[in-house]
Amino acid sequence: MTQVSDLNTQLVACGQDHLVDYLSKVTPDTARDAIAAQLLSIDFDDLGMLIEKYVRNYTPAASPASIAPAKYFSLDGDWDRDAFQAKGEELIRASKVACFTVAGGQGSRLGYDGPKGCYPTSCVSEKPLFQIFAEGIRRSQEKYGAVIPWYIMTSPLNHEATKSFFAEHDYFGLDSCNVMFFEQGVMPSLDAQSGQILMADPMHLATNPDGHGGAFKALAVSGALGDMKTRGIEHMSYFQVDNPLTRVVDPVFLGLHVFAPESSGEFSSKMVAKASWDEKVGVFCDVDGSTEVIEYSDMSDKLAKQTNADGQLAFNAGSIAIHAIGVDFIEKIVSNPEYALPFHRAVKKVGHFDLSTGQSVAPSENNAVKLEKFVFDGIPLASKSIVVETARVEEFAPVKNETGSDSIVSSKSIQTARAALWLEAVGVRVPRSADGSVDATIEISTLTAVCSDDLKGIVLPDAIDPGSTVTL
Ligand code: UD1
Repeated sequence: MTQVSDLNTQLVACGQDHLVDYLSKVTPDTARDAIAAQLLSIDFDDLGMLIEKYVRNYTPAASPASIAPAKYFSLDGDWDRDAFQAKGEELIRASKVACFTVAGGQGSRLGYDGPKGCYPTSCVSEKPLFQIFAEGIRRSQEKYGAVIPWYIMTSPLNHEATKSFFAEHDYFGLDSCNVMFFEQGVMPSLDAQSGQILMADPMHLATNPDGHGGAFKALAVSGALGDMKTRGIEHMSYFQVDNPLTRVVDPVFLGLHVFAPESSGEFSSKMVAKASWDEKVGVFCDVDGSTEVIEYSDMSDKLAKQTNADGQLAFNAGSIAIHAIGVDFIEKIVSNPEYALPFHRAVKKVGHFDLSTGQSVAPSENNAVKLEKFVFDGIPLASKSIVVETARVEEFAPVKNETGSDSIVSSKSIQTARAALWLEAVGVRVPRSADGSVDATIEISTLTAVCSDDLKGIVLPDAIDPGSTVTL
């Protein structure tokens, strides 16, 4: 079969002789063809180079010549919030904004067996993350009289489960024609010593999602980008699946993204002041003159601990992975190979089927390299990119870990803290303990309010009872 002999040539060219040998022994032909089909879906053009660069001859990237904290629009800065809010609202009203959620990750740290978006998260009624976002979109559509399409990137690991979850829940009240799911790509998982592609079992390659940076390509090949153009969408409100406090469309941020003179309307970002020097968030930096995110795992302790004269962390701009991205910018990135995002390597434990022994292996040590792209590597490709500060309690309570920081317990406590501030802002008395923490559990549905102002004009209690559990 010609296809297989072409494949064999490609496999040999990138050091995958073990698979040529294996394919020659697999019977029946249908089984061999099924494995060959998986291999043919791999982009071999760069694979040999990637294996050399990230596995066989890996050397960490050199430090940049100059690195400084990124500038940002600070919360108390001298900029006209109301004017940008009005401009952002106009964009949303004109149905020029879509939501885009990256939900293709493996979510292994949370220890939850299912798509992370299905995880019960709201602090009283335990609504899943997808429902919290869906209802925020519904509320925003009503508020602005607009259609806000929602694009959700999944991966082969959770695509069907995610789609079924929405279908079972009737799209949480959204019109299904405005919700589009598409799968991101995968990369083969590689043996960390030899660079050989691993088999997950005798019939399947071991693969991993290609990182949320795979979103650019996936948006294009899935037709999502074309769909946005047809609908007249000009900008995407990008957010991760793990943060229930995400404001699904934020007019102030969108207004700045499109209209601030410092922005090109291509790729803008939100930040919060870091909670501690070792908080696991990427940091916005000025690297050799352009804005970049340096991922927590790549930042030296020395730099992370550096402080200013006032004792504040110098590299303080923590990324909450909320961005506004121009649709034209995505087209520019995907149509020009010069803008290809780099890969990052992660060394992980990957269970696999050992072709030489015919045994399944559950490694106790990290044994494999996974290659992933990061969406924020698109930031330096924008001609001008802005970073906008927001308050942690308003917009950042991610659910990532089973316990401790960024867990469901910490998230619920921040969710209540925000609800309390919103209620107090409209005159409701909220019980607080001596240390200032809220002495109640309060959930404000995203159907009720997506910001504090939405509570104005709603009938609310005068006060919340100490120790009570309240849903509004
Ligand atoms: C991420 C950011 C970090 C940021 C923090 C804020 C990265 C590499 N780092 O860290 O800079 O400060 O969030 O909370 O993203 N995903 C996919 N496909 C993939 C991989 C991930 O869709 O192939 C999605 C996940 O479903 C999730 C998001 O990307 O929604 C974040 O992924 P995760 O790997 O958990 O990143 P963090 O380490 O939490």
